[in-house]
Amino acid sequence: MARLDAARARRAGRGGERPLQRLRARLASGNAHKLDELRAALPDWEIALLGASDFPPEVGETYYENARTKAEFGRGLAEPDVWVLGEDSGIEVDALGGRPGIESARWSDDPVPDLLAALDGVGHRAARYVCELVALSPEGEELRGTGVLAGRVAPEPRGSEGFGYDPIFIPDATSDTVAILGNEWKQANSHRARAAQALRAAIAAPR
Ligand code: IMP
Repeated sequence: MARLDAARARRAGRGGERPLQRLRARLASGNAHKLDELRAALPDWEIALLGASDFPPEVGETYYENARTKAEFGRGLAEPDVWVLGEDSGIEVDALGGRPGIESARWSDDPVPDLLAALDGVGHRAARYVCELVALSPEGEELRGTGVLAGRVAPEPRGSEGFGYDPIFIPDATSDTVAILGNEWKQANSHRARAAQALRAAIAAPR
């Protein structure tokens, strides 16, 4: 018992549990779709886009490195009393050795037709969306959350909701593309929604 009390006291000394409701955050991104998805996944947080016209180049070797770079960039611009979120995501295709991965936003000028062309005649079309979120607190403490959505690449684009590869990504246990399943489905099930829940749990966890 005494040991438990001591552990609780130690945690309290380091700040204890954080109030998670109405947490104010700035997302270091220009992507309004990402903002909408994070707002839907974390409805009690107040998230806005960071007002920046340019973001640092994505030169990291992992989603985490890129997400952290964005968050650190945002930390330098945002109001001191808000949290800052950095996000990096991509699609990994088994038959392409995990590419385009962290290059998903820039490996092609026309990524959907080019990915379909790269998989022309390929039967094994397993793929996954990955999202890494990094949060920096007003004090500079770092927390992170990862989310994965497994699925496969469709033979042709279908649907109009979402963005990026959504017209050609069919999540496991469904037979429709994310662009057909729609924004509501995505807000509950996407890699970004899963990363948001993992981040929330990391922030809530006693330190
Ligand atoms: P970045 O995170 O800004 O590097 O961009 C990630 C890229 O991965 C996006 O430009 C899309 O091409 C792709 N991507 C990431 N998340 C999604 C998603 O939820 N739907 C469709 N494409 C996505």
